[in-house]
This record gives sequence, structure tokens and C-alpha cells, in this order.
Amino acid sequence: TDKPAIDPATIAAAVSPERLANDLANVAMMGGRSDGGVARLALDDNDTRARLWLIEQASVLGAKASVDAIGNVFLDVPGSDPTLEPVVTGSHLDSQPAGGKYDGALGVLAGLEALRALKQVGFTPRRPLSLVSWTNEEGARFSPGTSGSAVFCGVRSLEETRPIEDSDGVSLGHALDTCLAELDAAGVPRRPLATPMHAFLELHIEQGPILEREGAAVGVVEGIQGVSWFEVSVSGSANHAGTTPRAMRRDALEGACALATTLRETARDSEDRVRFTIGKFAVSPGSVNTIPDQVTFTIDLRHPDAATLKALEAEFNELAQQTWAGCKAALTSLSRVEPVAFPATLTALLDDTAHELGITAPRLVSGAFHDAIHLANHCPTAMLFVPCRDGLSHHPDEHTELDDAVAGTQLLAASLASLTR
Ligand code: GLV
Ligand code: MN
Ligand code: MN
Ligand code: MN
Repeated sequence: TDKPAIDPATIAAAVSPERLANDLANVAMMGGRSDGGVARLALDDNDTRARLWLIEQASVLGAKASVDAIGNVFLDVPGSDPTLEPVVTGSHLDSQPAGGKYDGALGVLAGLEALRALKQVGFTPRRPLSLVSWTNEEGARFSPGTSGSAVFCGVRSLEETRPIEDSDGVSLGHALDTCLAELDAAGVPRRPLATPMHAFLELHIEQGPILEREGAAVGVVEGIQGVSWFEVSVSGSANHAGTTPRAMRRDALEGACALATTLRETARDSEDRVRFTIGKFAVSPGSVNTIPDQVTFTIDLRHPDAATLKALEAEFNELAQQTWAGCKAALTSLSRVEPVAFPATLTALLDDTAHELGITAPRLVSGAFHDAIHLANHCPTAMLFVPCRDGLSHHPDEHTELDDAVAGTQLLAASLASLTR
């Protein structure tokens, strides 16, 4: 307490672009694709290698590594007052099958570099400081995603998560046990779930076009829009395509198309805030000369405002009760997460720290969801975004300029320092 506070500029100057670039390149090789992208699916061998690599970094930080029952890896740096709850930063190391080097990995590696920079300048946190990598954020192999943060925060149980299977019929629980066995062999101790936190900060690429358009290196995220996933099934009856007159047809595809179009029109708002996507559409029996008897499609519906999201969901439910081209429809919820608004105290701290560092950091709302959407109900949470070229992500060409990644890391490091004081 007698030591003079280390100012944000000193902390920022200790963030090393070389170390960060080197870590990004190293981690991108674990599951690296020949097209320059990354395929590091949740709990596969490369994801396990990346965890072991992260755990090896604990020694430079003077941190203790541990893993919980859903495979979230933590590196804990002790604070001078061990009775206080920790300030936590991190993101995820799993990727899409044809993913990039930055989605998830950047938040973990920026957190690692921030902690190294704080150690380098001799900063002693009063509160403990932790780096986390959450399991299966993407949901590309085991759906739905954000498994690590959802189970950690008690939003979903381990029991309901372990049986989820990938497309080869391998359960998440089986893949998790394989991964945990490797970590056990490396002597990594277990830690409990749901441990209390003073705050959580996640840095991530924006995955959208706003920061690039504004020429900003960093953005302060005010919240994450809510998301509601549905499956819609439309049932008609199959019959011969050539012989069945119009009055006798109950064509499930005709019904599904009419319903899908009406749902899309219902979601269209003049402010362009609603996000409505039909990403899967399956027609059965799928024969050129048979009238379809069954169509299922998915809906990804998002809005930053809880009441608007709820009203749209109610309208969708009503529309699904109607008859569509003589067919019955049924709408089932696959998952839903309420929008979150990050606490103003935390976003203001990020604004102020950016200001002190001379970084212009506009505010924005996250269109994509992140582990932070669950953490926001566990402890005060906020996010930082850095731009990505052409707003592109979930693509091998995903790219963030090193200067922007460094600016984000500097702001992260200085903000973590204020929060742990
Ligand atoms: C995943 O990040 C999503 O927003 O769908
Ligand atoms: Mn991500
Ligand atoms: Mn992603
Ligand atoms: Mn995501």
C-alpha cells in the first residue's frame, strides 16, 4: 500500500507486440489448416495441446494452473490480499472447423500478455488475478456452445452437458475425460466450479464491421444482445408429385416457405436492429417426385432489448399455431439467453482507462454472444473489442492488425490493474 501506484502508460508500454505475435503464431499451429486458418475443435487433441501450452505459461507469471470439471483452465496469480475475490480475464481456445487465428484465442493470449506486462513492471495486485480459457465456446463440435462458462455459472448442469454428442457420436463427456486425463498426467490440480469473482473482462475480435468503419483500434462493449434459437417443423403428407391435384396436396415445403417468409417479415424492423436467420432447412423425404411431408428449419433470432425479443418470440409462437398450406407447424425453443447490459461502473472504468492511454475507444453492443453473456450474471462483467478485417470471422482469412491487438491488450492490462488495486 505504501508503494506508488504504477501508471497506466507504464503498464501499456510493457505490453510486448513481439510476445503477443509469437503466441498467436504458436497457438495457430495447434490445429493449423493449410489455408492459414485454424481447426481446433472443442476437446480435440489440438484443443488439449493448446490447454497444456497455456498451463506451461503459468511459471512465467508466477501463477498456479488448475482445471475444473468442465475443463475450464485457470492460471491464478496471487494477490497481496488472498481473502479477496479475483479479477478474471480470458476467452476460449476452441475454434470453428474452418476458423481463424483470433476468435477466442486472442482474448486468452491478450490476457496472458497483460499479466506478463503487469509482472514485468513489478505490479503487485491486491486482489488475485486469473486468466481463464473456457471450454467449447463455439458449439461447432458439441452444440450448444459456451459449455464451459454456462456450466461454471450454473446456467446448465454438467449432467445435461456431458451426453451431448458430436457428429461421430462421441459424447462431450467422453472427450472431456480424455482431455482431463492428459491434464491429470501433467499434474494439473482440479478446482471447483462457480468460484466467486470480483469482475470478469473478456477481450475479443468484434466479428463485425463497426470498429473498422470508425477507424478505432478498440471498442468498449456495453452489452450483448439476447439470442433465441428455435426449431420449426412443418408436417404435411407425402404423395405422388405428378398425380395429386392441388386441392388434395398438403405440401410441407409450401407451408414451410409461407411460414418462413411471414416470420422473416414479422422480424423486419425499420431500425435494422432485429437479427433473423434461417440457417438450416431440411426437406423430407427429399425425393424429386414426392410431395414433401416434413420440413424442419432453424431460427436464430436476436435483439439487444429484452422486451422486444420477448414480443417477437410471442408473435412467432402465434404464427406457428396457424395452418400453413394445409400443414401443421410446431415451434420449439432450442436455447435462449437474455440480453445483458454490462454495469456502467465497469464500462466507465474502461472509458477512463482508454482516455488515460490516449486510445479512442467507441462504445458498441455485441451482436455475437460470448462466454461473457453468462459471466455477466455471475459477477460484474465487460468486454473489449478489437476490429477484424472486413468484419470477417469464422473464416480462415479472419485477421486483426497487430497494432490493434496490442492497443486492446494495453487497455486490458491497465484496466485489470485498476480493478485489482
Ligand atoms: C457465437 O458467437 C454466436 O454469436 O453465434
Ligand atoms: Mn469467440
Ligand atoms: Mn466464434
Ligand atoms: Mn462466440
